[in-house]
Amino acid sequence: MKNPSNDKVKYQEAVFDKKAGKRKIYAIGGRKNRNHAIKLNKIFETLQFHDGDKVLEIGTGEGEHAYWCLKYSGIFYTGVDISRRSLDVADKRLCGFKNRYLLKKENANRLSFDNDHFDSVFCAATLHHMEEPFSMISEMVRVLKPNGKIALMEPNWIYPSNVGFAIFLREDRNMFLMKKRNLYRWLKKAGLKDIKVENLLYTPPAPKKLIPFYDHVDEICGKLPMIRAFSLMLFGSAVK
Ligand SMILES: C[S@@+](CC[C@H](N)C(=O)[O-])C[C@H]1O[C@@H](n2cnc3c(N)ncnc32)[C@H](O)[C@@H]1O
Repeated sequence: MKNPSNDKVKYQEAVFDKKAGKRKIYAIGGRKNRNHAIKLNKIFETLQFHDGDKVLEIGTGEGEHAYWCLKYSGIFYTGVDISRRSLDVADKRLCGFKNRYLLKKENANRLSFDNDHFDSVFCAATLHHMEEPFSMISEMVRVLKPNGKIALMEPNWIYPSNVGFAIFLREDRNMFLMKKRNLYRWLKKAGLKDIKVENLLYTPPAPKKLIPFYDHVDEICGKLPMIRAFSLMLFGSAVK
C-alpha cells in the first residue's frame, strides 16, 4: 500500500534537488551575512565542540554550516540530507577538509547510525520540513551519546516572512508547528534534560545599509514583552 508520508519525503527531495546549487537566489542577501554568523555563533556556543568530537548535522543542505564547523573546530563532521544534489554541492564545498567529514543521503526519520554514537547533534531549518517532527528529534536523541548536546534552530512561524513561506510553499507547511512550546514539549518527551528554547534574531539579513543598527534593534526587541515572541528564529538546546 502507498505510504503518504513517503510521498511527502519524496516531495522534499525533489524540491531540494531542484534548488541545489541555486541557494544564492533563494537566500535573501546570500548566506555570508550577519544573521548567518549569529546563528553559527549560537551553535558553537551551545555545542562547545572539542577536537575529535563526532558531530552530526541533520539536513546538511549545501554544507553551509558544515564548512564553518570544519574551518573553526577540530571535529569530525557527519552530515545527512534527503537531497543527493544538495549533498553533491556540499561535497564540493568541503573537499578541502579531506578525511574529516562524511556525507550521507538519508531520511532524518530513519537514521542508519548506531545508538549513542555522536557527541553532538544539530539541525538548522530542517525540522520544519518533516512530516513528523518528533520522530526526527527522537532519532537525533537515539544517536546522541549520554550527556551529549543537541541544538535545533528553526524559523519561528509567527515572523511575518515565515508566515508567508508557510502559507505559500508546500515544503514549508510544517513551519506552523515551529512554536516555542512545541520545541520544548518535543525535547521533554524525548527524555532530555537542561532544555532551553529561546527566541533568536529579529532583523532580516538585508538591506545592507541598515545592518549597523541591527545589533541594537535585536537587543531592544528581545527585551520588549509584546515583541519578544516575534523573532525570526527559535533556538532549542538540551542534554541527553
Ligand atoms: C532549508 S534547507 C536547510 C539546509 C541547511 N541546514 C542550511 O541551513 O543551509 C532544509 C534541508 O532539509 C533537507 N530535508 C528535507 N526533508 C528531509 C528528510 N526527510 N531527511 C533529511 N533531510 C531532509 C532538505 O533536503 C534541505 O537540504
